[in-house]
Amino acid sequence: MKIVVTGGLGFIGSHTVVELQNEGFEVVAIDNLSNSSESVLDGIERITGKKPIFEKMDLRDKTSVQNFFKKHNDVAGVIHFAASKAVGESVENPLLYYENNINALVYVLQELKELSNPNFIFSSSCTVYGQAEIMPITEDASVQPAASPYGNTKQIGEEIITDVAKVTNINSILLRYFNPIGSHPSAEIGELPLGIPQNLVPFITQTAIGMREKLSVYGDDYPTPDGTAVRDYIHVVDLAKAHVVALKRLLSKQNLDKVETFNLGTGTGSSVLEVITAFEKVSGQKLNYQIVGRREGDITSAYANTDKANNVLGWKAQSTLEDSLASAWKWEQKIRS
Ligand code: WQD
Repeated sequence: MKIVVTGGLGFIGSHTVVELQNEGFEVVAIDNLSNSSESVLDGIERITGKKPIFEKMDLRDKTSVQNFFKKHNDVAGVIHFAASKAVGESVENPLLYYENNINALVYVLQELKELSNPNFIFSSSCTVYGQAEIMPITEDASVQPAASPYGNTKQIGEEIITDVAKVTNINSILLRYFNPIGSHPSAEIGELPLGIPQNLVPFITQTAIGMREKLSVYGDDYPTPDGTAVRDYIHVVDLAKAHVVALKRLLSKQNLDKVETFNLGTGTGSSVLEVITAFEKVSGQKLNYQIVGRREGDITSAYANTDKANNVLGWKAQSTLEDSLASAWKWEQKIRS
């Protein structure tokens, strides 16, 4: 069966392509290479022995999207990762985010609704919850007003998919990721370091390898056990596997509604200082860090209630925080060698 993965050469996309190929799916990866590299195809091939079909394409070009689905009209499902995802950048350049994250989604859905198997998996984010009142966070926690244009595009995307489901035969699953980290254990693919990392774990590994002088810890005055903010760090391979489980759910028509939502996390919250301590343990080296002021827009705590993902979707994260950090460190060392 042919599956289209948009953003298929990106961080989570490439790991999902590997897991799809491992399960015998034929994959067509679409990417505009704005935040990835064509060499990722070689890394995928080194892992699975098979290079996915690759189409360099910008999903903001409606005609290209139409032509693509005319050519690939035997698609059994689409997993949609392609989006800009830097919170800070989205504040500086909202129109880039609304055009890229919304227009592309609309154009893909317009073609998908004409297919005979309109199965759709949407890459969403726990950012839609804002600072949830109750921890761990369940899927029925209220969606808060977005704290950034990036988060707003995820909320709007979910609303578009829900509206479209009512009047088309598209079946969708919304996957709300917590904090994806780590890299494939082979170190053949991972998070490409383009620019100064905004996220915690790539900044940690780049500090440890000597690329950054020190890590700034954004605030230690949060109402948490050690004062630093808490997140649910999930291994990217666990996350990728969840996409295959979700896709199979739609392919076998096990979905209970036309739009289903699942939180993808480990269910465990870890503070910034706990991540640093765990990293020092797996890397065997001290990390140079300094506590500084809070980062604008950060929330105190977010970690997933995983009951629905475990019991309904039938998926559970397997990797520990240390496993994930060890894989991130192995990748950092590999790409700097
Ligand atoms: C984690 C914690 C920071 C960097 C964002 C998006 C989310 C998803 C993941 C896309 C926070 C602290 C960070 C640093 C630090 N992205 N930190 N020093 O903000 O939870 O989530 O990325 O899907 O949608 O919102 O992740 O890794 O940026 O931060 O102290 O140099 O680490 O304050 O507490 P975040 P993050």
